[in-house]
Amino acid sequence: MSESHPFSPPSFFRDPYPTYHRMRAERPVYWDEELGEWVLTRYLDVAAALRDARFSSDRTTAFMAGVPEELREAMIPFARMRANLMPLTDAPRHTRLRAPIEKAFAKGIVDARRAHAQGLVERAIDAAVQRGRLDLMNDLAFPLAAETIDALLGVPPADHDRIQGWAIDFERALAGGVPTVEALRAADAALFGLAGYLRGLVAERQAAPQNDLIGALVAAEGDGDALAGDELVGTCLVLLFANEGTTPTLLTLGMLALLRHPEQARRLRDDPTLIRAATDEMMRYDGPTQMLWRVTAGAVTFDGVTIPAGQRVNLVLGAANRDPARFPAPDRFDPARADKRHLGFGFGIHGCVGSALARMEAEIAIEALLRRLPGLRVAIPDDELDWHRTMGLRQLNALPLVWQ
Ligand code: HEM
Repeated sequence: MSESHPFSPPSFFRDPYPTYHRMRAERPVYWDEELGEWVLTRYLDVAAALRDARFSSDRTTAFMAGVPEELREAMIPFARMRANLMPLTDAPRHTRLRAPIEKAFAKGIVDARRAHAQGLVERAIDAAVQRGRLDLMNDLAFPLAAETIDALLGVPPADHDRIQGWAIDFERALAGGVPTVEALRAADAALFGLAGYLRGLVAERQAAPQNDLIGALVAAEGDGDALAGDELVGTCLVLLFANEGTTPTLLTLGMLALLRHPEQARRLRDDPTLIRAATDEMMRYDGPTQMLWRVTAGAVTFDGVTIPAGQRVNLVLGAANRDPARFPAPDRFDPARADKRHLGFGFGIHGCVGSALARMEAEIAIEALLRRLPGLRVAIPDDELDWHRTMGLRQLNALPLVWQ
């Protein structure tokens, strides 16, 4: 991306909202020549696109079209693997992939992880008290999210670093515009490394039942709608990836919003029952997933502008969540706000399956931090915060905190 693009300067990663406000006011539906995509920023348009089947989630055909000719043949297994990743599929395939996971989450697997998550949080704070400092992102949020999803799925903790290595290689390889040959080879290797590992976990559970999510999905084999081998592996992969960057960020940016609004932090500490409503406002005000992509399966018209079929569309959730036409005084962080219908977890058939898990972790951690570390504040000035430069995902590389 060129330096003159509005999504490029460091100031955009620090605070993207002035840019979003400008785009929404000046050209809410526009073709971005440089990114080769349409960009939508109004709440109503983004919400409409999320529930409109003409906005397809199957980005594989478009992705393969960008793959250099000489690699296309070799990338076919990669494309097949993508067909098992539920965020990249449309109905009816999507319905089939999603049903067993929805069923599993409805069975209380999130509540069953609550005590474990509480223990992890209390121990991370104990260690921080001993050290006298806490990097919220790396000392608490990342390990909490990783250990919770591992325990839920049934991934041995000792294997986590290996898994994270593959996930990082994969994301790094595909970050940026049209992938290079080397990037595609690296992404391919990472994805197949991880898939091979997960296949091993599935095989173990086929040999001997286990009481975890992979075990439950394996045990459902034989049901009419149970997932077959590669579908199961694809689903585990999605659950690991979908959690990795997002859940730690909800906790970190949520806490940052509270520390920038000390009167709200005090209210929450005095009345922890407000945490549920506060989490929704954190998601609206500065949520992890800022952008989602779709491809038009047919021509669609918004406000007299027609988006032709086969075009990539960027749905800017972060801009929709600050749309003044939907949320009065949208730049105000107000945990008591009555309207909770933000789009931070998406909306429609692809709406987040794991939102209850992410909320549970953020709520437990924020309640404990406010209770145990009085006078908590950010240890460095605002302009020294280190923002990750990833399109579509908002993330801090670290959040150093101090307390009295
Ligand atoms: C704060 C944390 C999280 C945020 C902000 C978030 C955000 C989102 C968003 C915006 C979508 C919609 C994607 C789309 O429409 O293309 C989504 C889907 C999804 N999320 Fe999350 N997510 C979070 C945590 C989690 C966790 C913890 C899990 C799993 C344990 C998870 C699993 C999924 C899955 C499987 C989908 C795909 C659903 C589908 O395609 O039908 N997410 N998430």
